[in-house]
Amino acid sequence: MLNKVVIGNQKMNMTATQTRKFLNAFVPEVEHINCRVGICVPYTSLAICKRALKDTNVMFGAQNVSEFERGAYTGEVSSEMLADIGCKLTLVGHSERRKLFSEHNSQINNKIKQNLRYNITSILCIGESKRERTQGLTQNVICKQLDECLSGLYENELENIIVAYEPVWAIGTGQTATSKQIEEAVSFIREEIARLYTDKASKNIIVLYGGSVKPDNAKNFINIKNLNGFLVGGVSLDAKAFSELIQIYSGKSNKKK
Ligand code: 13P
Repeated sequence: MLNKVVIGNQKMNMTATQTRKFLNAFVPEVEHINCRVGICVPYTSLAICKRALKDTNVMFGAQNVSEFERGAYTGEVSSEMLADIGCKLTLVGHSERRKLFSEHNSQINNKIKQNLRYNITSILCIGESKRERTQGLTQNVICKQLDECLSGLYENELENIIVAYEPVWAIGTGQTATSKQIEEAVSFIREEIARLYTDKASKNIIVLYGGSVKPDNAKNFINIKNLNGFLVGGVSLDAKAFSELIQIYSGKSNKKK
């Protein structure tokens, strides 16, 4: 796996038709980039992604997955169903799901375990609220989320986990965390992984930052120690801005040699 990773989370925004148009504009711009690129789309756009992204370097994923394997769970979509259509990634535990749909750490842990059974990488979103940061609880929140969401996982299974540090107060607000705040959180996440597993696991796990990342501010984050890249919301809806962000971050031209 290349060290640099940028993944878009398009949330509940694109119809399948809009996804097709988006991919037509986006994929050629990131074709020869020195960065792993992915996009998490609504379930209804996954089939389009499968077709359009075949033989490209762009990965696609879902934004959620069921904590159950199969059965009478009306409206749910399982890891097995996602794997069957070639989906190799899903977000789990996004703060919008935690807040608006009352998802808690034990459910997120079940989702990760389901994904592991079907060889799907889970992008585990964690992060504190404004109030928790103000009260000095950032590390407690991160520690609890990691502990509970990764409970029962073996070290080798961390290969299928990406951690996305997304402070809730920075999501969709235009207010990014500072480089120092991100660096501190990323170091703490790696310390926790070392405590729960080993130094090797801590070094190898991919850690992303998400929260109001844009082409304008991406360069401020290039040198953050031990950060592998970004999880991008709003900007990932705009093919031009998203590819520009990726080009800035990867530091490479997208032009064919
Ligand atoms: P924004 O980039 O719009 O702040 O969203 C971040 C996010 O929620 C990615 O999962």
